[in-house]
Amino acid sequence: MPFHAELAELFREAGGRPLAQVASVSPEGLPEVRTVVLRGLADDGGPWFVSDRRSAKFRALERRPTLELCLWWAPGGVQWRLRGRAVVHRDDALASRSWDALPGATRALFFSPPPGLDLADVDRSAVGGAGAAAPPDFAVVAMELERCERLLLGPPLARTSWTRASSTWRQRELVP
Ligand SMILES: Cc1cc2nc3c(=O)[nH]c(=O)nc-3n(C[C@H](O)[C@H](O)[C@H](O)COP(=O)(O)O)c2cc1C
Repeated sequence: MPFHAELAELFREAGGRPLAQVASVSPEGLPEVRTVVLRGLADDGGPWFVSDRRSAKFRALERRPTLELCLWWAPGGVQWRLRGRAVVHRDDALASRSWDALPGATRALFFSPPPGLDLADVDRSAVGGAGAAAPPDFAVVAMELERCERLLLGPPLARTSWTRASSTWRQRELVP
């Protein structure tokens, strides 16, 4: 994995929790983007984040399981754009490890009414709560990378792409 060591170093510098913007396409064909905390990096270089299966991003993933993620790391002056297939983990080792590492306030969200509902339509007494075990709506979304692009601000500017070609990666230097 030619870029994996660099991504792993970025994770370390970010205290293991870099923020990224994840883009998907809604069932209506509209672009959607939101911030997530990247919570780990698999050996194959793909990051993962936790999310709620009742959320809009999950509706998008059910239709089209491809995500693009954009990460701007200011200390390194570098932008990473990662595209890949979203693989949902539930009730497995990665899901339970990720659940165990979450702060209580984040866990409580998974016991609240579905994200995005109008508060006027929900039973406010049902908001909040917590639990020791991961509820059914908790999931980890891991990305199986298909394309990766790095833009180094330099100077000089340098733009490099890696595209998966079966078991190897094709690297190209691009005009920034
Ligand atoms: C700093 C920050 C970190 C966030 N981390 C996550 C996260 O790890 N997972 C997540 O699902 N949403 C996270 N959110 C909330 C999302 O940006 C978004 O508002 C929410 O997931 C609903 O998105 P959706 O309706 O497109 O599914 C975070 C927001 C911010 C501002």
